[in-house]
Amino acid sequence: MTRHFLKDDDLTPLEQEAIIERAIKLKADRFAERPFAGPQTVAVIFDKTSTRTRVSFAVGIADLGGVPLILDTGVSQLGKKESVADTAKVLERQVAQIVWRTFAQSGLEEMAANSSVPVINALSDSWHPCQLLADLMTIREQFGKTKGLKLAYVGDAANNMANSYLVACALAGMSVSVAAPEGYLPDESVVSRAREIAAMLGGVIEVTTDPTEAVVDANVIATDTWISMGMEEEAERRKADFAGFSVDQKLMNLASPGAVFLHCLPAYRGFEVSAEVIDGPRSLVWQEAENRLHAQKALMAWLAEQN
Ligand code: CP
Ligand code: NVA
Repeated sequence: MTRHFLKDDDLTPLEQEAIIERAIKLKADRFAERPFAGPQTVAVIFDKTSTRTRVSFAVGIADLGGVPLILDTGVSQLGKKESVADTAKVLERQVAQIVWRTFAQSGLEEMAANSSVPVINALSDSWHPCQLLADLMTIREQFGKTKGLKLAYVGDAANNMANSYLVACALAGMSVSVAAPEGYLPDESVVSRAREIAAMLGGVIEVTTDPTEAVVDANVIATDTWISMGMEEEAERRKADFAGFSVDQKLMNLASPGAVFLHCLPAYRGFEVSAEVIDGPRSLVWQEAENRLHAQKALMAWLAEQN
């Protein structure tokens, strides 16, 4: 059975931990692993815009001895003239792995079901699991561990990042508290899955509409844009609905002493986060962005061994 990485809990807790450890080693010795030597090609497909994901996968595939083939949906047949299944059958005969940023999670599932090479979710409407590997690596670098720590997520808790924080942090033995306005709380299925994992690994999952409650004792405060890709038409309504849900210095001060700030980026200063926080001494966002490279390299090297 081909292993894929379509959502955070496609990895067991031990596999997640091993990939993060491998990423830390690769950061210290960047060209130590060459699984794509040949060079083999990895397809990286974008149905949505990207800076970090595009750069970190292209650089990471090259670092691993391979060649990245970046395909934008606008210049390929995928999505318009050709089905996902037919695309998978063409790609699997030529590339070592398929990385895809898309809208519906069902598209990724269909790609994986038709591909004998690993498929990696580079963000969908539902999950952003590669980002979480980088975030957990950053937390591990900062605190020397993930187990027993608490992350508070304040903002749009019905989006891909909130879903991935809930499940991936639970897998890493962390507690997660999310705070969002009514109407932007996470889907019950995601909360139950996170609670199921947390019950086995010692974490606690909480959902609230009060940001000041969520951040109590938090070691990490995270947020994300209030207007995810595809939500642009709702921008004005969302800005009004999220009033009071900005991560500012006052909120940071209510967390555990030594708490750090994470944001997957791109960030909108003055909305989900104040400039003082994201540009301040407790912000690890640039380290987090760099860690996309190392974490995804570890993931691709690991997937290359599983199949
Ligand atoms: N964080 C992240 O995935 O950034 P991009 O949208 O720029 O890839
Ligand atoms: N929630 C954001 C994440 C961007 C990396 C989006 O989907 O646009």
